[in-house]
Amino acid sequence: MITKPKGTYDLYGTDEKLYTYVTNIVNDYMANYNYNFIRTPIFESSELFHRGVGETTDIVTKETYDFQDRGGRSITLRPEGTAGVARSFIENKMYGNRNDPVKMYYNGTMYRYERPQAGRFRELTQIGAEIFNSYEIATDAEVISLGYYILKEVGLENIVVKLNSLGDLESRKNYTDALVKYLKPHAEELCEDCQRRLKTNPLRVLDCKYDAQNEILKNVPKIGDYLNEESEERFNKLKELLTILDVDYEIDENIVRGLDYYDHNVWEYYLEDGSLALGGGGRYNNLVKTLGGPDIPGVGFAFGVDRIIALLRERLSEKEVSTNIDCYILALSEEEKIYALKLAQDLRLNNVITEYTTNNLSLKSQFKIGDSLNAKFLIILNNEDLQKGLISVKDNATKEEVKIDESSIIDYLISNI
Ligand code: HAM
Repeated sequence: MITKPKGTYDLYGTDEKLYTYVTNIVNDYMANYNYNFIRTPIFESSELFHRGVGETTDIVTKETYDFQDRGGRSITLRPEGTAGVARSFIENKMYGNRNDPVKMYYNGTMYRYERPQAGRFRELTQIGAEIFNSYEIATDAEVISLGYYILKEVGLENIVVKLNSLGDLESRKNYTDALVKYLKPHAEELCEDCQRRLKTNPLRVLDCKYDAQNEILKNVPKIGDYLNEESEERFNKLKELLTILDVDYEIDENIVRGLDYYDHNVWEYYLEDGSLALGGGGRYNNLVKTLGGPDIPGVGFAFGVDRIIALLRERLSEKEVSTNIDCYILALSEEEKIYALKLAQDLRLNNVITEYTTNNLSLKSQFKIGDSLNAKFLIILNNEDLQKGLISVKDNATKEEVKIDESSIIDYLISNI
């Protein structure tokens, strides 16, 4: 038997319903917030992620799926969505007159060669939102609250936003210097990767899954002490605005994010008692410029949809995610079956969700299927009624059965479902 690759899963059944449920809520919210959908390629030039996400990040050094295509180009399966959207923003010159923020969202699979475990896949799905061309903190607040309220709406009530500021380039440089000064004498007590990170990208040490419990890391200098005035002001303003927007947040100086493009405000979404981030984001004022575009700031976040689905699977009852159809048609004889075929088409073309079976099943089995699909109405065909131009319709909740003239069956169902 050929099996799926490690770290992937097939989305079907209940999980697919949960995925559609989450996606529908996101689409509604994004429409209300006036975001436009964008789809970028699943594969991009490797250079995009090296420059965008950062040459020395774990994602780029250890987790990307890289290959040469048949034309000898270096290609990478996208590990995240922001770099591709920024590339598209630049390539398609979406910056236009530069007055208006450009707001986009996406929903798609990303690829990271991580060690598979609960909530960590090699093919993962993210839904993300990005805003370009707004430097204002109100935009950070709006984006954070958008993600927060979507998570609440899907049914994850106890969401908390963990918030931090990495400051601007100057603040970060000062902090990085202090961090290196503190860690250097303890370098040998760090894991091998962190010894390397200390030289190439010291901030990433704070992100290390392995060294997280290391005593040395518990007493590192606090990034908040190194923010310059402007960075601190921006962070304080954000906190004020989040309070106005009723977003439950807490400051967590360990949130440094695993991607290099961030500056200023960064955050992650967690369940109050959860240990896996359901999403994360931040401001990236230098990404567009780094990728060769104009000096235009950005801010955004992405959810890990697989993690959200896993939580909803435990929380929502079978009934809440089960299929609900409008009508199930029952037919036995050849004539009844042909009638069912045509009636099902007429109903479906009138937006009535309809099912029936072409298999030769007993009426008892057909009733069972109708029940399992939670059909609101059962349409029971029989030759005798059909000859008189009548159709039996049973309300599956009240069990009341009526005979309807076949010429008004569609109107009857439309007005009763
Ligand atoms: P990220 O924190 O790397 O950020 O990923 C966002 C979310 O994707 C995580 O919080 C997590 O829920 C989910 N995720 C990440 N890796 C995996 C995995 N291996 N398996 C399952 N879920 C995973 C970004 O990707 C940024 N592009 C977010 C962003 C958008 N920042 C600004 N705009």
